[in-house]
Amino acid sequence: MKASIVVLPGDGIGPEVASAGVAVLRQVAQRFGHEFAFTEHAIGGDAIDRFGDPLPPETREALLAADAVLLGAVGGPKWSDPNASIRPEQGLLAMRKLLGVFANVRPLKLHPRTAALSPLKAERTKGVDLVFIRELTGGIYFGAKTRSDTDATDECRYSVEEIERVLRHAFDLARSRRRKVTSVDKANVLETSRLWRAVATRVAADYPDVELEHQLVDSMAMHLLTRPADYDVIVTENMFGDILTDEASVLAGSLGLSPSASIGGPGAGVYEPIHGSAPDIAGQSLANPLGTILSAAMLLRHSLGLAQEAAVVEAAVDQVLEHANLTRDLGGSATTHAVTRAVLDAFTAKAEAA
Ligand code: NAD
Ligand code: IPM
Ligand code: MN
Repeated sequence: MKASIVVLPGDGIGPEVASAGVAVLRQVAQRFGHEFAFTEHAIGGDAIDRFGDPLPPETREALLAADAVLLGAVGGPKWSDPNASIRPEQGLLAMRKLLGVFANVRPLKLHPRTAALSPLKAERTKGVDLVFIRELTGGIYFGAKTRSDTDATDECRYSVEEIERVLRHAFDLARSRRRKVTSVDKANVLETSRLWRAVATRVAADYPDVELEHQLVDSMAMHLLTRPADYDVIVTENMFGDILTDEASVLAGSLGLSPSASIGGPGAGVYEPIHGSAPDIAGQSLANPLGTILSAAMLLRHSLGLAQEAAVVEAAVDQVLEHANLTRDLGGSATTHAVTRAVLDAFTAKAEAA
């Protein structure tokens, strides 16, 4: 098949991990006879430096014409002055809004070797296999903002339509898994959460074969550490999902392992690791590329319908997690390049066998 893939390297370790993802996708194209056209565009701090805009018009145009988008990460200390008027993160949010990708899918699977590196005891993390659906284009991220010398506000607003569509996404996904949805809110305090809970209860009536449980976000943060194996699909609003998914990623051993897919819009899906630009390790080939490589696998499956290719990439990553020298965040001493090379080698061997 032919596909046009927009690559947004961004800032910090973004370009390092994005090029690992592209290398794997190129290998997929070559081995399976596809034609992927990659075009790189500016986003984030890099785009501010070059164009004075974190999501320049030419990037927007390319996004609207793409079949899929692979992103590294944006942001860094250079652009983080609390008084700055333009910020790299605005580019990311504008892109999500532009593409209408309201469902951010963040799976968490444990591999026995890396689970041993989790700060939690092995008996607690045994059997963990969950997926977060984070609402991505609404809530406090996109509400009205004000700031004066004496105060500031961030408005949190959700419409029934925004809540309902992401909940349906979660329930549909649960049907292909263990048929359990945990809806996370703060309904004891927030009006948006009370609306969220009411909509969740109503939508659940259309899915009698799926169990719905409501959970308050503060205790959810605890349960993720005390009984993570009890969860299947966890659905929540934008900011709660941002925070809980970084927390949960550590169960698997490292933030650097977690992929994501942002989907649900009329056009391209966006695929990116959940981590940020990691300024503390940028430019040293220390970044773990596996979260991005697993995001590339999600791109193959969700945007291009290439399930077999995605499975071979995932199997190659599994093999690397099993045997290879890994990056420093996972206790190893391998470079980003070496781990990427190990995935490419494992992929080639598996593709030949497939
Ligand atoms: P971060 O995710 O960049 O880093 C947190 C910690 O995890 C750091 O110690 C980092 O070294 C480590 N880490 C992250 N990814 C890693 C990887 N692939 N391999 C090894 N170690 C890894 O979070 P932060 O430091 O709070 O944020 C830095 C910047 O990134 C900020 O400007 C923030 O806005 C931005 N950010 C961007 C995205 C994105 O582009 N999607 C996501 C999160 C944060
Ligand atoms: C993420 C990031 C972004 C978010 C930031 C950089 C705007 O943390 O993708 O998880 O909060 O959504
Ligand atoms: Mn985040």
